[in-house]
Amino acid sequence: MKPYVFITRKIPEQLLTELYEMAEVKMWEHEDVPVPNNILKEELERADAVFSLVSDPIGSEQLSNCPNLKVIANMAVGYDNIDVRLATSKGIVVGHTPDVLTDTTADLTFALLLATARRIPEAASYVKNDEWSQWSPYLLAGTDVHHKTIGIVGMGRIGEAVARRAKGFDMNILYHNRSRKAVAEQEIGAQYCTFEELLKQSDYVVCLAPLTPETKEIFNAKAFQQMKDSAIFINASRGGLVNESDLEEALKNGVIKGAGLDVFAKEPIRVNHPLVQLPNVVAIPHIGSATVETRDAMVKMTVQNIVRSLKGEQPIAAVNL
Ligand code: DGY
Repeated sequence: MKPYVFITRKIPEQLLTELYEMAEVKMWEHEDVPVPNNILKEELERADAVFSLVSDPIGSEQLSNCPNLKVIANMAVGYDNIDVRLATSKGIVVGHTPDVLTDTTADLTFALLLATARRIPEAASYVKNDEWSQWSPYLLAGTDVHHKTIGIVGMGRIGEAVARRAKGFDMNILYHNRSRKAVAEQEIGAQYCTFEELLKQSDYVVCLAPLTPETKEIFNAKAFQQMKDSAIFINASRGGLVNESDLEEALKNGVIKGAGLDVFAKEPIRVNHPLVQLPNVVAIPHIGSATVETRDAMVKMTVQNIVRSLKGEQPIAAVNL
């Protein structure tokens, strides 16, 4: 009997050929609607493998009755939506998609930094709304990026790729990470410092650390207070690293200057979210790795993680093996 694989969202069929050859596959057929929790639970009762997304919570409730489940393959580098410890205790492999999205996510992170510093979304709306009547000396004047100091919190693969981009802009690069990174220091010239020192010295504070119990809400009132009042905060990692009401206060009261946010504590957010209402926030909908090329590569890697695990082989990338 073929193994049973459940895919939690509509994925282009042409990328799934190998999966169809070796398994019975069922796909939740909506592109923009997440699978309801009751259906996910029902499917997990039967599935040998699940192809999941960052928006699918897979914790104790979903894993309470999954006797056949051998692999959870998350189509993301992050896996904070999954209770990895529980999965591991049940012998379930947790796969993810590092590397293939590194440059794409770094491009977006840097684009968000530039967009926030140079007020690009505001400027684009200004023209589209037909508000541009004169050239004037300080019209939509932003903040320079070149030769400023960037502080990267979380110097993993994406942090390093962002640092390379910052080097191209002649920025002074600081970083904070659990461990020192020789490549970042020797090849890119990034300087290690404590979290506090990074907050104090950076013009751009860029959050790229994973969400863990240790990093939850590390960007809080105390952290924002230590930043320059001219600082711009960029988050392209997970919203859970930020205390959003503290960030809102900091932005409202001039404690920091602005923020570019690709991620939020609870996604999706609506237009009435307090951070979206602020003029000094550029908010975008968790699109760090969203290019067709990279999303195709992530799908292919997720498929390979499933195929290999079901064949008893080593997946391309697993977080608990
Ligand atoms: C990831 O890969 O973790 C992103 O947040 C989703 O692409």
